[in-house]
Amino acid sequence: MNAKENDLMNKIVSLCKRRGFVFPGSDIYGGLANTWDLGPLGIELKNNVTQAWWKFFVHSRKDVVGIDAAIIMNPKVWQASGHVENFNDAQIDCKECKKRHRADHLIEDALENIKVEGLSTEDLGKLIEENKIKCPNCGNHNFTDVRTFNLLFQTHIGPTANDSDPVYLRGEIAQGIFTNFKNVLDTSRKKIPFGIASTGKAFRNEITPGNFIFRTLEFDLMEFEYFIKEDMWKEKFDYWLEEMHKWLEEVGIAKENTRVREHTDDELSHYSKRTVDIEYNTPFGWKELYGLAYRTNFDLTRHQEASGKDMTYFEQETGEKYIPHVIEPTFGLSRTLLMVLFDAYTEEEVKGETRVVLKLKPQMAPFKAAILPLMKKPELVEVADSIFDDLKSKYALDFDLTGSIGKRYRRQDEIGTPFAITVDYDTLEDKSVTVRDRDTLEQERIKISDLDDFLEKKLQ
Ligand code: GAP
Repeated sequence: MNAKENDLMNKIVSLCKRRGFVFPGSDIYGGLANTWDLGPLGIELKNNVTQAWWKFFVHSRKDVVGIDAAIIMNPKVWQASGHVENFNDAQIDCKECKKRHRADHLIEDALENIKVEGLSTEDLGKLIEENKIKCPNCGNHNFTDVRTFNLLFQTHIGPTANDSDPVYLRGEIAQGIFTNFKNVLDTSRKKIPFGIASTGKAFRNEITPGNFIFRTLEFDLMEFEYFIKEDMWKEKFDYWLEEMHKWLEEVGIAKENTRVREHTDDELSHYSKRTVDIEYNTPFGWKELYGLAYRTNFDLTRHQEASGKDMTYFEQETGEKYIPHVIEPTFGLSRTLLMVLFDAYTEEEVKGETRVVLKLKPQMAPFKAAILPLMKKPELVEVADSIFDDLKSKYALDFDLTGSIGKRYRRQDEIGTPFAITVDYDTLEDKSVTVRDRDTLEQERIKISDLDDFLEKKLQ
């Protein structure tokens, strides 16, 4: 990261903590590496993104339905899916400073433009032996051998670890979709092609520094499996890639900050025949934001074999019976929050001063409007309260009484609130308020009785 990019990252981290988007996990105990908590504004942003995603990919379509599966599943699921055997990363320790690294990331960062994810441990070892890799922490070349480790978190059911075999926290939410394929098919009367969507937490035993909320031990995912007949896969792959780009626009991520990267053959996950990543140009380089994979019928086939349950689909029109294939668009929700913040963060010169403003799309903004009595006087607060009560069922609102009006505007700019509604002494006479637009900074006088219509039009 160069100084300018580092600067943006630091500014986002600081804004998130200062204004209540993201706090370090277990903060009062000094934190826990790669864990973060969402604050009052972070949870609003997350809910807005999740709801918009659900509306875009589920409610607006006749061919996608949703589920919410359990996080802890029968361990046989993870054996059948191949995660127990294949969901591995390579790790390496610096013998000098004892810092642990993901070997592929270390090399990727050190030797830009080299495709490394598919390298074998021998290849990695060779690069290290040739002193091509330095420890980013201390600059030395003295590493342990490369070891692979499994990313699934294990736990146990019952009071002691010896009482049961390990169970796993889900490493991806897709498996809950595959295991419910028949239940959904039987109850929803959907016909192929159709999708099953889900959102929720996934867990991975990540050992490398996470770049804030970019890489964490637990994170939110939004994804769906789109079940198809095999010969549809190319057409549907292209179709979903286009829809994913439309979603980027919907959530407020500029297309020019993203690119599509094709996985090389040796980089593909154990289940995939084709994968592309949608990458984002972060302050720490181009990084994966979303993925689109053609998982073939690998998962349903494996679950049919392991469970003995029939996973076939009967096509009435042709009388054919087959195990459906899937296209899987997957969206890291935690990463979306970070990229939305990168995209929205703006600094502007206004009257010789720097104004920090989050130019979030109004639908994503934690608050749609802030109600600000000019002063803490009972007669002004009373009117402000009644405006809050009139609008609260339709809009997420902030209500701020503290500090000068200038400071309150700056705070609302920094958290991306599209409109600030100020109640002043004239309001008591003319039943109107001043509405300030976050982006244009224009202020207009609006009748209290017209506020709802005004906001509804502007927030569309
Ligand atoms: N079901 C497919 C699947 O889980 P993946 O590429 O392993 O695919 C999906 O993960 C998305 O989850 C990624 O595109 C990324 O946005 C996000 N992601 C993966 N690991 C993450 C981590 N440790 N922290 C935060 N987000 C992560």
